[in-house]
Amino acid sequence: MATIHIDPLEKRWIWMVGGMVVIFYAVQIYYAAVHNLHPPSNVEVIDSAKLHLSEEFAEDKLGVKQEADGSYTVTMVAARYGFYPQEISVPANTPIKLRIASFDVLHGVHVPFSNMNTMVVPGYVSEVHTQFVKEGDFPMICNEYCGLGHDYMYSKLHVTGAKS
Ligand code: CUA
Repeated sequence: MATIHIDPLEKRWIWMVGGMVVIFYAVQIYYAAVHNLHPPSNVEVIDSAKLHLSEEFAEDKLGVKQEADGSYTVTMVAARYGFYPQEISVPANTPIKLRIASFDVLHGVHVPFSNMNTMVVPGYVSEVHTQFVKEGDFPMICNEYCGLGHDYMYSKLHVTGAKS
């Protein structure tokens, strides 16, 4: 049986690359386990072609709703080329749960100066939990290229002061 010759320098690099892979995995596992850091993920399937017939994402069910515990749920649909409703208003310093589904292709939703930033994958419901600390008007923009109208895809978000 012939022995395979590996150059000592090459062997050293094999060990280094192997070590780097182990370190990267360890860092990811550490942050996921200790700091609960992970991408917004909510595996909940929905039939994108039948959103208008669904309990939650039918046109008249969209918008801002206050829950019994004082938090707010925002239900939206992303579709070429807009988010619906096109204008929403929520109070500052209040827990907000955004639930959004795509009607057609892949979109993203991003609100500057907040942690609201998620992909909206057709066939799934995206859910983000956030609190807006700053009052004012912000754009909710699409950050996944979805077609020629992508640049014009946004909604207006008003973050208001005192809770009513
Ligand atoms: Cu929707 Cu880009």
